[in-house]
Amino acid sequence: QVAAASGHTVVLVDQTDEILKKSTKGIEDSLKRVVKKKFADKPEAGAEFIKKTLKNLTTSTDAASVVHSTDLVIEAIVENLEVKNKLFKTLDKFAPEHTIFASNTSSLQITEMANATTRQDRFGGLHFFNPVPMMKLVEVIKTPMTSQKTFESLVDFSKAVGKSPVSCKDTPGFIVNRLLVPYMMEAVRLFERGDASKEDIDVAMKLGAGYPMGPFELLDYVGLDTSKYIIDGWHSLEPNNPLFAPSPLLNKLVEEKKLGKKTGEGFYKYK
Ligand code: 3HC
Repeated sequence: QVAAASGHTVVLVDQTDEILKKSTKGIEDSLKRVVKKKFADKPEAGAEFIKKTLKNLTTSTDAASVVHSTDLVIEAIVENLEVKNKLFKTLDKFAPEHTIFASNTSSLQITEMANATTRQDRFGGLHFFNPVPMMKLVEVIKTPMTSQKTFESLVDFSKAVGKSPVSCKDTPGFIVNRLLVPYMMEAVRLFERGDASKEDIDVAMKLGAGYPMGPFELLDYVGLDTSKYIIDGWHSLEPNNPLFAPSPLLNKLVEEKKLGKKTGEGFYKYK
């Protein structure tokens, strides 16, 4: 959405037409929200902005066949290294020489994905934040193999889509998630111990620390499955780090398919 809105030609790829239909609808709804704010007194300019953005956007279920004409691939699939590597390996065969590959992973190592391809120097991380149309940050990740030219292209691209890039080495969680995920997990543990209610913890962090959402609201917003993938991955890397300890409550909710806002229930219920 943000790439198309800033004049880039985008092909959105997913596994089924049904998912793509849902994604396109999500983008249309989000664009309407952006327009309501950005073009409040200019409905015609707003309608034109939506039309232009959607014109830049096509969809496909066949990544290998569309990658031959792309300059940049941004992968944002399931947080599973094997699945990601399989995709990158395939795309590596069909993409032009100059094409840069980037992963939007929340917690996995970019280096390991780069090593699944033959373009380690043209591989980096581009980590966006939910909701992407609103959050101004992008973390640009440079592995020891990422060339300076690739890094600069990723920084330039981030600026071209209207974001403010920061850079970080290829370390677990980069900057934001390395701080945010342990904080959210500590909130769950505080609740699990019965020290405070989740409602009070959320109110406390909003009113006492100025956060726009409390940790439980944010966990539901990000998705409990995604949060679990992250913490489980880090726990296997550092089993003795108490900040990365799994939470029985989080595990239970994920097992019950209560994944947060997207499934209608997580820590809270949504209509
Ligand atoms: N698309 C477009 N516009 C949106 C939007 C979206 N998806 N979501 C919100 N907006 C805009 C709209 O203009 C909306 O107005 P509308 O409701 O009339 O359409 C306006 O924001 C205000 O939104 P809300 O009234 O719903 O509420 P807020 O003022 O609280 O803003 C928020 C919403 C921007 C999500 C804010 O609560 C926030 O900043 N929350 C914290 C988000 C955060 O921490 N994100 C990082 C998560 S971690 C992550 O992503 C990393 C990953 O690896 C896990």
